[in-house]
Amino acid sequence: MTKRLLMLCAVALMACRAAVAADDVAVIDVDNSKAPIAPTMYGLFFEDINFGADGGLYAELVKNRSFEFDNPMMGWTVEGHNRNSFNLFVLNREKTNPDNPRYIRVIVGPEGCRPLVNNGFRGMGIKEGNGYRFSVWAAVPEGDVNLKVEIVDDKGNTIGGSSVKPSGKEWKRYQTVFNSSDTNTNASLRVSFEGNGIVELDMISLFPTDTWKGRENGLRADIVQLLADMKPGFLRFPGGCIVEGRTLAQRYQWKKTVGPVENRKLIINRWNTEFAHKLTPDYYQSFGLGFYEYFLLSEDIGAEPLPILNCGMACQYNTGELVPLDEIDTYVQDALDLIEFANGSTDTEWGALRASMGHPEPFNLKYIGIGNEQWGPQFFERYAFFEKALMEKHPEIIIVSTAGPSVDTDLFYYAQEQLKKYNAPIVDEHFYRSPEWFFENAARYDEYDRDGYIVFAGEYAAQSVAQGNPNNKNNWLTALSEAAFMTGLERNADIVQLSSYAPLLANADAWQWSPDLIWFNNMESYGTPNYYVQKLYATNRGTEVLNMSLAGTPLTGQDGIYATAAYDEQAGEIIIKIVNRNAEQKEFGMELKSKRKVANTARKIVLASSDLESMNSFDKPQNIAPVESEIKTGGKKINLTLDAQSMTILRIRKN
Ligand code: AHR
Repeated sequence: MTKRLLMLCAVALMACRAAVAADDVAVIDVDNSKAPIAPTMYGLFFEDINFGADGGLYAELVKNRSFEFDNPMMGWTVEGHNRNSFNLFVLNREKTNPDNPRYIRVIVGPEGCRPLVNNGFRGMGIKEGNGYRFSVWAAVPEGDVNLKVEIVDDKGNTIGGSSVKPSGKEWKRYQTVFNSSDTNTNASLRVSFEGNGIVELDMISLFPTDTWKGRENGLRADIVQLLADMKPGFLRFPGGCIVEGRTLAQRYQWKKTVGPVENRKLIINRWNTEFAHKLTPDYYQSFGLGFYEYFLLSEDIGAEPLPILNCGMACQYNTGELVPLDEIDTYVQDALDLIEFANGSTDTEWGALRASMGHPEPFNLKYIGIGNEQWGPQFFERYAFFEKALMEKHPEIIIVSTAGPSVDTDLFYYAQEQLKKYNAPIVDEHFYRSPEWFFENAARYDEYDRDGYIVFAGEYAAQSVAQGNPNNKNNWLTALSEAAFMTGLERNADIVQLSSYAPLLANADAWQWSPDLIWFNNMESYGTPNYYVQKLYATNRGTEVLNMSLAGTPLTGQDGIYATAAYDEQAGEIIIKIVNRNAEQKEFGMELKSKRKVANTARKIVLASSDLESMNSFDKPQNIAPVESEIKTGGKKINLTLDAQSMTILRIRKN
């Protein structure tokens, strides 16, 4: 063989090796965008389930502050005293104040009333040095009465207090702010009566002053911070099934949740009785956290507000009550008025109310959801009315409709057909399935109808046991499976433009549904591994999806690897997300195809655990949390060792 022939053979062999190697290497086409990634891609689903609002995000510490629970004294005790005595009465002024009819009358004197105590939502969480605002609506029809206000720890010691002196027959609001001298997780509010006479009380309230942005009637800052840290693209509220109600009378009516808090009519929370194994008789909706506060929260955390409205149907898992079509105009009007409330000028009726509540500027509402998990022809009959009215009066608003409670069922396929007829722009799909389903469905949207609707993956969470099972855990297996699945959401950003894990919040001492993204108690809150998956996706979203393939196909679980790539125009960075579901490390090769230079280093973020059962907790909130490092990549050809059971993100600068 001549020297020249030998050389040719060597070159051919090298080329051949390179071709073999190329099939093992994931190729990312860095310079060509496949599709923009919507800013709304990763958002939040909020529902008042698991004491998510009252006893949760809403920072009010007093339970049943307005005596409107079915049992008006639920949550209250009269210390050392039989409250059926003649010194304390519940009165009902149904005629003059139908939205907040009940209040208490206390006769104060030598034989008078003993202190009134409220233990909050499974105890009050009180922090040393923090300020507390006590407020009350009061009238003194007779005599001279002083209210002594104390925070009492679980041993009976006073750890903070002040007093309020109401006067006059007219109802007025009084308040006082004081500090706590100690920390206690199970404290109570005690109101004692001094003097001689009759005092009437309503809306007895205690808030910490360190609420989010220090607002009165505010939200728990620690929980909002966790939400804000996610940089969510949207906030869907107020649910979920809570929108529908068990009956139409118990549906969520946004108009009853705005204006002065003392006029917001309380109703039972549908999750109070939903699960026989998790009855929570003290679960009501005070609506202190109402639509105005949801809009404000959306604005605070930079999320598009996405309200979901009742479409004239109560929850079909419960009564399935329907409003007759000739009475649906009230429901449609609620939708039109909501747009006016959010966006209308301050000289409109609802715009003026928004302004009077402190927000003259519009909230820039762009989306409205009609119905939650509705199904069947009855939904579409009703949907048609909303569609017509909204298209006529507010073509600028994008309607979000529903494909029912669960994907890939007969109800779902029926809904898809109907939605197509209506040209529904955005459709909410729900999946509460096993972790295996999530792994297997990473390619779900790869072959989806490109001429159909935009997908809102509006409620999903991997269920470690089964949907609705109280033993479901927020373990690493569930989070890893969601991370794998989400590569498919991002890869299909041309048709998937919104997604949210559900439910969002759970009070560890009063929940009904598990798993949930964030758990809290009276003092603290922590993000689950699932939270960190959501947060990593949202904070590393990118603006364009890039083509990433292995041997010409997307990475949807071949050899246990799932991946997607994006480019962030603002940051000028390539963002690669890779999930390794294998129980061992994997060598992973990538090639960045680009005419431009790319950096030789990358920021690497890894979320991993060798134990699929492991979880986060109050004691170990960061047990599974992202770990960041700077690595050398060597340029466009990158060899990476993926940790076992891990989600890895690389951020690489493109010059
Ligand atoms: O997220 C909990 C519940 O699951 C929601 O209220 C409902 O929409 C779904 O069935």
